Amino acid sequence: MPMSPNPGAAQVPSLGRATPPSDKELVLKVIPMPADTNGNGDIFGGWVMAQVDLAGAVIPARHVQGRMATVAVNEFIFKQPVRVGDILSFYANVTRIGRTSISVQVEVYAERFGAQGQFVKVTEASLTYVAIDDTGKPRPIPRQG
Ligand SMILES: CC(C)(COP(=O)(O)OP(=O)(O)OC[C@H]1O[C@@H](n2cnc3c(N)ncnc32)[C@H](O)[C@@H]1OP(=O)(O)O)[C@@H](O)C(=O)NCCC(=O)NCCS
Repeated sequence: MPMSPNPGAAQVPSLGRATPPSDKELVLKVIPMPADTNGNGDIFGGWVMAQVDLAGAVIPARHVQGRMATVAVNEFIFKQPVRVGDILSFYANVTRIGRTSISVQVEVYAERFGAQGQFVKVTEASLTYVAIDDTGKPRPIPRQG
């Protein structure tokens, strides 16, 4: 697999070492590539947001059982930069299930290139998804159980 780690990564200390949450589900793992960088050489925030949107949709998809759309990014915090070669782990849990919408909290942890096994929290976000029908209008979320 082509891998071109940030050459400066080895000099940057792993600030804010953290433990991944035990009350959230691991919904995605991905390693960003050089094509995902911004002008600073870090990973472009829009790329991180897209991954969080995908990861956040996993648990709502089980509830919604059909089409859905992201209606809101209620909060998004970039706590630390993401770098090429980091292993990113996305953890999520449901915070609210409404009539047609479902909200989730997503936390993203990085294992820095060359320091795998040590986790740094890089991003946290809150998003809301809406179940939609064939015409794109909100529909009730099926009740489970
Ligand atoms: C999602 C969409 C169908 C909702 O339609 P709408 O007429 O605005 O829906 P409503 O006002 O009835 O709200 C639907 C639900 O979303 C919730 N909602 C709406 N805006 C919200 C916000 N800013 N934050 C949190 N929840 C919100 C409402 O509370 C409601 O939830 P509930 O039924 O559980 O109480 C419509 O806004 C849409 O198509 N948006 C574009 C979606 C999209 O393209 N997403 C990808 C972005 S690139």
